[in-house]
Amino acid sequence: MVYKEVQCPSCKEIIPVSGVPGEIKKISCPRCNKVGKVTFANTVPLQDDAIMVSGLRKEYGDLVAVNDISFTVRRGEVFAFLGPNGAGKTTTVEMIESIRKPTSGTIKLLGNDIRSSFDKVKERIGILPQEFHSFERLTVIETLQYFSILFQKKADIEDILDAMDLQHVRNKLYKELSGGLKQRVGVAISLVNDPDIVFLDEPTTGLDPKARREVWEVIKTLKAKGKTVFLTTHYMEEAEFLADHIAIIHKGKIIAEGTLEDLIQTFGHGSILHLRRCNNKQIGNILKEEGFNIMNQQNGNISISIDYTDKILDILSILRHEAIEYQSIDIHRPNLEEIFLHLTGAKLQGDNT
Ligand SMILES: Nc1ncnc2c1ncn2[C@@H]1O[C@H](COP(=O)(O)OP(=O)(O)OP(=O)(O)O)[C@@H](O)[C@H]1O
Ligand SMILES: [Mg+2]
Repeated sequence: MVYKEVQCPSCKEIIPVSGVPGEIKKISCPRCNKVGKVTFANTVPLQDDAIMVSGLRKEYGDLVAVNDISFTVRRGEVFAFLGPNGAGKTTTVEMIESIRKPTSGTIKLLGNDIRSSFDKVKERIGILPQEFHSFERLTVIETLQYFSILFQKKADIEDILDAMDLQHVRNKLYKELSGGLKQRVGVAISLVNDPDIVFLDEPTTGLDPKARREVWEVIKTLKAKGKTVFLTTHYMEEAEFLADHIAIIHKGKIIAEGTLEDLIQTFGHGSILHLRRCNNKQIGNILKEEGFNIMNQQNGNISISIDYTDKILDILSILRHEAIEYQSIDIHRPNLEEIFLHLTGAKLQGDNT
C-alpha cells in the first residue's frame, strides 16, 4: 500500500489517499466535494533496461530496410521512434515484438534475449499494431474481455476503461466508434495483460488534432502508471510533446538520438530572435556594433541569431537604453522538423495534419 497527499485543484484542501502501485483511484474532496482521480505509479525495479537493440538488421531481398541499428530504451520512459514513411519503423518494432525475424542482430526485452527467451516476456508486453482493427460487432467491454482471455496475466478491465476514458462508450459496438475512440480501444487492448512495455505503432495517424491530443493524454497516463512506452510516429510534435528520449530513423539508419534538448543542442543552429517594426532603422547597425550576429534586416524588421539565452536580456536592455520601440518580438527555437531537414535535406512529414 502506498500513502500520499494530493491537493484539491478547486479548494486547495490537502487530501490523504492510499492505494496500490498501478491503481487509479477515484476520490472526492471532503471539503468541496470535487471529484477527481489519483494515479499510483507502478514501482518497477530498475535492474535491466526495458529494451536493448544491438546491430539489428533486416533485409527484404536487395532492400536493407533496417541497417545495423542499436539503441536502448530505459524502463518507465516514453521512447519515440521518429521517421518518415518507409524509414523502417514498423519493421524494427515488429522485430522487437518477435513478429518479424531479423536478418541479424540482438534484441533484449527486460534483460531477456528474445531469440531464446521470448516466452518469458511475451506476457509482459502490449502491442498496438500500425494497421489496427477490432471486431466490428463486439462492444468495447466485450472486446476487452475477449482479448483478456488470451493472457494469463490480467489487468482489471474496469481500471483500463477508467484510465483510457472509455467508460461512457463501454456498451457501444466497436463499429459505431469514431476513429479517435477506436484508437483508444486499441491502446486499451494492448493493456489487458497489464504489460510493463507498451508498443504503439503510429497510434495517431489519420486522427484529427482533437482526437490526437486525446491519445496523447492516454500515453501520458501510461507513463504515469510506470509503463515503458515505445512510440512509433512520423509526427514531430508528438515526439516533442511526449518523448523522454527520441531516436530519428531515416532509410533504415538512426541518424540522431537523445532527449529533445540534446538533439536541439547538438543539431540545431541556435535560436533566432525576430523584432518587427522597430521605429529606429539603425537598430541593426547598433546591435552589430555590440557584436550580435544579424541574419536579416529590412525596414525595421530584424532577425538576430541567439546562441545563449542571456543574449536575449542583453538585446532587451539595448532596446531600452536606446529608447527603441517595436511592434513585436518573438523567439524561434529549432524544432525536430528543422533538425531532420538539416540532417537529411528532406522533410520529415508529408502532411501537417
Ligand atoms: N514484408 C515486406 N517485404 C518487402 N519489403 C518490405 C516489407 N515490409 C516493409 N518493406 C519495405 O521496408 C521499408 C521499411 O518499411 P516499414 O514499414 O518498416 O517503414 P515505416 O517506417 O514503418 O513506414 P510507415 O511510416 O509508412 O509505416 C519500406 O521500403 C517498405 O516498402
Ligand atoms: Mg510503419
